[in-house]
Amino acid sequence: MNVIKAQDYAHMSTLASDLIIEEIEKSAYFKLGLATGSSPVGLYKELIEAYKKGTLSFENVTSFNLDEYVGLKSDDPNSYHYFMQQHLFNHVNIQKHKTFIPNGMANDLQEECRRYEALIEEEKGIDLQILGIGENGHIGFNEPSTPFTEKTHVVSLDESTREANARFFNSKENVPTQAITVGIHTIMKSKKILLLISGESKKEAYERLMDPHISTYFPASILHEHPDCTVIVDTETVMG
Ligand code: F6R
Repeated sequence: MNVIKAQDYAHMSTLASDLIIEEIEKSAYFKLGLATGSSPVGLYKELIEAYKKGTLSFENVTSFNLDEYVGLKSDDPNSYHYFMQQHLFNHVNIQKHKTFIPNGMANDLQEECRRYEALIEEEKGIDLQILGIGENGHIGFNEPSTPFTEKTHVVSLDESTREANARFFNSKENVPTQAITVGIHTIMKSKKILLLISGESKKEAYERLMDPHISTYFPASILHEHPDCTVIVDTETVMG
């Protein structure tokens, strides 16, 4: 695990965007794994800027998002479909039919998980997976105690995750109780992983991650076993 200490959120976002642009440029066909939430918003702004300046094209990019809430329509402002349109897709030349996000409105959620996993398999996996981390160490929505062998599956969100995400909804009661998430097995098969850590609430998660002990009780700890994982930490908020 390669840990890069950025001065602040803006610096973390620039370093992350430089790394991603370099990878996209190297490849004729690039499969990018995307995350939502506060951590990658600055990174997405940087990618949009690079596209506008003409230094980045998404023409050859296919994207797979990590997760989506169960029960939110794609035009719901709290859905991750909506988040991605707002924060990235509407502003760059990515081809919409090459952007994939689990369908949290599917009638048969198990079938939707199988379909989504098969799509990733057909593409022979993710080239670079962007991750954030939950206060409880979740990656994607793989909450503590999730087996490392899981592929895309339906999860019941931890109460702590619903509380942390209540800031986007009017109240915690409105935060869905379930989500579809890409599993840890699939995340670990990505060729490269880029984990962004920012915010005072992530201090403890960062400290636990720096302990090389691997346990399902702290899902992100498995990243120690990944051969090419970079962590960029915003030291101003996480270590300040
Ligand atoms: C989002 C996701 C989650 C978040 C995590 C951190 O797609 O999979 O694991 O990355 O909850 O969220 P923020 O960045 O909002 O602190």
